[in-house]
Amino acid sequence: MEKAAKVKDLKEKLCVTVKGNSLALFKIKGKIYCTDSKCSHASGPLCEGKLDKTTVTCPWHGSEFDVTNGKVKHGPAVNGIKSYNIKVKGGDIWVDI
Ligand code: FES
Repeated sequence: MEKAAKVKDLKEKLCVTVKGNSLALFKIKGKIYCTDSKCSHASGPLCEGKLDKTTVTCPWHGSEFDVTNGKVKHGPAVNGIKSYNIKVKGGDIWVDI
């Protein structure tokens, strides 16, 4: 597991780079989720997307993904994105990458 961020720095969503990978962290009702930040359509930054419950909308062309599992909910993206297991320890968020 790799340290990705401090829990206190994650309000609703956060862009992080872990081992050269652009990841998105989301906090929903106190629970933390991590996915790839690059949209599977054309690499738009999902960590900057609008979050509505567990759905993030890509800021570039509006694809929607479920941040709890990375599945695509609405195109133009066809494929889902990778989601990662996380662990909180000592005030830090660790990502299984
Ligand atoms: S890059 Fe995300 S919808 Fe196109």
